[in-house]
Amino acid sequence: MQTVDLYDIPQDLIVKVEKLSNLGFGIAKFNGYVIFIENACPGDELKIKIIKKNKNFANAEIVEIITPSKYRTKPLCPMQKVCGSCQIQFIDYQYQLNLKKDIVADTMKNIYGYDIEVRDVVPSPKEWGYRHKIQYPISEAKNSKRIIAGYYKPATHELVNIKYCPIQPEYCDKIIDFIRIKVQEIGLSGYNEKKHSGVLRHVVIRTSEYSLKSLVVLVINDSFANEKIMSLAKKIYSELENISGVCVNYNSKKTNLILGEKTELIVGESFVEEKLCDKVFKIGAKTFFQVNPSSANNIFNYVKNYIKTKFDKPTILDAYAGIATFGICLSDVANKITSVEQVRESIDYAKRIIEENGIKNIDLYCEDAARFFEKELNNNSPKYDIAVIDPPRKGCSRESIDYLLKLTKKMIIYVSCNPATLARDLKIFKENGCKIDFVQPFDMFPHTYHIENVVFISL
Ligand SMILES: C[S@@+](CC[C@H](N)C(=O)[O-])C[C@H]1O[C@@H](n2cnc3c(N)ncnc32)[C@H](O)[C@@H]1O
Repeated sequence: MQTVDLYDIPQDLIVKVEKLSNLGFGIAKFNGYVIFIENACPGDELKIKIIKKNKNFANAEIVEIITPSKYRTKPLCPMQKVCGSCQIQFIDYQYQLNLKKDIVADTMKNIYGYDIEVRDVVPSPKEWGYRHKIQYPISEAKNSKRIIAGYYKPATHELVNIKYCPIQPEYCDKIIDFIRIKVQEIGLSGYNEKKHSGVLRHVVIRTSEYSLKSLVVLVINDSFANEKIMSLAKKIYSELENISGVCVNYNSKKTNLILGEKTELIVGESFVEEKLCDKVFKIGAKTFFQVNPSSANNIFNYVKNYIKTKFDKPTILDAYAGIATFGICLSDVANKITSVEQVRESIDYAKRIIEENGIKNIDLYCEDAARFFEKELNNNSPKYDIAVIDPPRKGCSRESIDYLLKLTKKMIIYVSCNPATLARDLKIFKENGCKIDFVQPFDMFPHTYHIENVVFISL
């Protein structure tokens, strides 16, 4: 309960950090008033300075760490504080898992509003080098015109030139370094976001944990690949080792979206291969694939074992399917699977992977999920024993949930990377008579505030 007028809060305070917020800020309180502090760890005693007062909370920065939390560690990355990617790299990894469990439980309590069992977080098999997809914006330094590639400072569009990133496979640093040098040598321009000028705007790299090969995608602010781009692509392929192929993606729109509509293969192959659940997957430039393959493997195997022990060869709907990863992993324990995904490239890859793995019991549909569910409801009787749904961060639409409730007989398994939208949607399932069995979190993103959850919903 807030008991203080916000104007009474002194600018400088000494506080004890109580918790971690869902966005990775330390939470302290002053007479009940909530203060979010960047780079703060629960257990820290801090001298802080308020930098912004809002109606119900304030933001603060650390002036001095008076007594550090026993869970503070030295981050591996020297850029941790300036780069926006790893908000909690300075916290001991085991403790990060406890904090993430608390975040999920608190979110459920606040938004879902009913009691719910949240299990211990399954750690990522790899604490470092786990992130197998990287997307570096490319630009030029203001005065020197030196090519810079990296991540944006938190809440800004100020690019930090990153030479070393411990959460990515080491080889990605080498690829990016090579590209920085060659772009400069060739005389290719980096993108200027404000002026919407310059050619090379992003480099996307997908590295396989299985084959150790990398697919490089050069995203350009143009509608054709000029000689300089072609030369860069060929140099990457011929002078670096373990490059499966180099593609160019055309994105000349003034947009925050990284990839444009069209991708063209310049040299090599247009995909890398990854292995999950003993099946080999092909991943292209635009296909969705979990960034942490070994942690994703834990999720797929967990869901597979759960279904195997509780159901006898069920019919399964795999919605928001990507390259039908769930469908393919579950094909051994299902009678029939229907996978639905709206991105054409993903469905094309899924088709190829299904054929190559000799799988016979999956039907693929390239369609918006809600429209597909609507059509499936024609005969108005539930068709699927189980629905596995893995929507994007915004969660499911109300319309989709209503259809899913009518289409599914026994269980909905909801996979989510956003606890807030998950809790919102679970509330709707609960209010429609479903039983939320439990939430199983998996850490796919060590050192960041992100957390993946799998929820088992009985109908
Ligand atoms: C979080 S990903 C999950 C992909 C897959 N289940 C996996 O684990 O690899 C969400 C997927 O939903 C797809 N998607 C987003 N909105 C959709 C919609 N309205 N209808 C169908 N698919 C959609 C995206 O293209 C993306 O492939």
